Amino acid sequence: MTADELRDKYIKFFVSRGHAQIQGKSLLPENDPTVLFTTAGMHPLVPYLLGEEHPAGKRLVDYQKCIRTGDIDSVGDASHLTFFEMLGNWSLGDYFKEGAIKMSYEFLTSPEWLNIPAEKLGVTVFEGEGDVPRDDESAAVWKELGISRIAYLPREDNWWGPAGTTGPCGPDSEMFYYMGRGSEGDEPCGDDCKPGCSCGKWLEIWNDVFMQYNKNAAGEYIPLARKCVDTGMGIERTVTVLTGKASVYDTEIFAPIIAAIETASNSKYGQDGETDRSIRIIADHVRSATFILGDPKAVSPSNVGAGYVLRRLIRRAVRHGRKLFLGEGARNFLAAIAGVVIEKMKGAYPELLENKARIIEELDKEEAKFMETLQKGEHEFEKLLPNLLKNPQKIMSGRLAFKLYDTYGFPIELTEELAREQGMTVNREEFDDAFKKHQELSRSQSGQAFKGGLGDQGEMAVKYHTATHLLHQALRMTLGNHVAQKGSNITAERLRFDFVHDAPMTAEQIKKIEGIVNEQIIKDLPVFMEMMGIEEAKASGAIALFGEKYESQVKVYTVGNSAADFFSREVCGGPHVEKTGNMGKFSIQKEQSSSAGVRRIRAVLE
Ligand code: ALA
Repeated sequence: MTADELRDKYIKFFVSRGHAQIQGKSLLPENDPTVLFTTAGMHPLVPYLLGEEHPAGKRLVDYQKCIRTGDIDSVGDASHLTFFEMLGNWSLGDYFKEGAIKMSYEFLTSPEWLNIPAEKLGVTVFEGEGDVPRDDESAAVWKELGISRIAYLPREDNWWGPAGTTGPCGPDSEMFYYMGRGSEGDEPCGDDCKPGCSCGKWLEIWNDVFMQYNKNAAGEYIPLARKCVDTGMGIERTVTVLTGKASVYDTEIFAPIIAAIETASNSKYGQDGETDRSIRIIADHVRSATFILGDPKAVSPSNVGAGYVLRRLIRRAVRHGRKLFLGEGARNFLAAIAGVVIEKMKGAYPELLENKARIIEELDKEEAKFMETLQKGEHEFEKLLPNLLKNPQKIMSGRLAFKLYDTYGFPIELTEELAREQGMTVNREEFDDAFKKHQELSRSQSGQAFKGGLGDQGEMAVKYHTATHLLHQALRMTLGNHVAQKGSNITAERLRFDFVHDAPMTAEQIKKIEGIVNEQIIKDLPVFMEMMGIEEAKASGAIALFGEKYESQVKVYTVGNSAADFFSREVCGGPHVEKTGNMGKFSIQKEQSSSAGVRRIRAVLE
């Protein structure tokens, strides 16, 4: 079975069980300070899991592009990826444990659907902790279905969310496939070997989460009035087990990508471990970079936030390309591979084809920039060499290696490589120390860049969210209707807003905008939500994000007295304050360029 077939089957199965298919969303979450990327299918659904009505109903299904960089160092093994696709079905206060598990089982094992032999499956359930009892209810459903390999595991394994500080969460039940073939030398690793075992024989393919709690800012688990189900099936892993492969990289999903890397680097996959690891890293990272660059939200490589992760992925791919002896002369190597990714995935993700020119251009640009960095770094290293060689211990200081990294972006692995060629080593401990300090700084700057997380629904974040709408409208009134939102990022301390406008703002304009926003706050205007079709929303004066995909029914938030007499009206998932009074005094702290034709405002409520 191919990924395309699996995607279709999953949607078809859940639609036939009363689910409405909804659109997967952007890889770059709107208004969510706790994460840089969409890390799971539930991410765009947080408000609905917390109790909001979803326009498409109580049963939903979709496929969602996801990025997780937490395990980036494991990429290259059999199953880890930074980009993956998640299939998901949701119950918003409809079926719960029994319904979810029975549908999962049927889809996995029925000859009409995936036809996986039940004896290859094992599951885990929550073992219980504190006030939350052992999940005997889920275990009983699995037993009734004939699954006997059930492991009871603690919170760190069988609890989903909130990965950030607050949000919906609950115990989960994970489904595993036994990868061993049962032959001699390939048995379970011991009597204790059970689903979830770290020996690598069990591969997790699906997770049913029973959303029962909302963890609030005080750290309390408040039972949800409406219990929900959130599930996530990994496409790449499931195709791996369905086609009897040992690794996600050995599936048809990666075959053309790996072939393109083999051709570009004149190397062969499947012959030695080191080469395979580099090829896998390139394949994964180029896929991630292609999807980030192909997203309608249009992030470019940079030194902060999502742009920084993108830069890291691209540069790591280039570095492994060099390891495969691509040679100095090789240019535009990533773009050639990205072309294959686009071709393979354009059916399910047409945005890749729409943004192809941009993807290729950005990859070429970043690759060339990094090559230049590498050359500069090598040149600097050569200049240092005569002095380094005088050191009788043949150890290069970690501080010096860090300086090459910090000043020229020269990766430590390359410094070590050059040092090795001269019979030297680098004081790695000292480098790691310096690097850690630097990383802590940049992490706090880019808002917990590498953690997963859910929407911040704290009181201040909600105020900033409404302030963002007021600002957006004030900008349009002052600068003109060409002002369109390009990005928004909110924390409990400030808002940041990127918008289309091609000149710096004057001091008078800034003052005027602050004045308009504060006037709306002082008026203590009501904020209300209505549900309607996207076209109707636009016709009624609501601002919608350009290039965003919307459901057939959307939420429109209005700041003002009525749908006929309002200050601002936007298509938005919420949440917002109920009235604009008590938000504080709005002031713009900074106004600067963000990229060509895009300005960035940082503002606070005091
Ligand atoms: N949100 C759950 C996961 O990602 C389904 O595992």
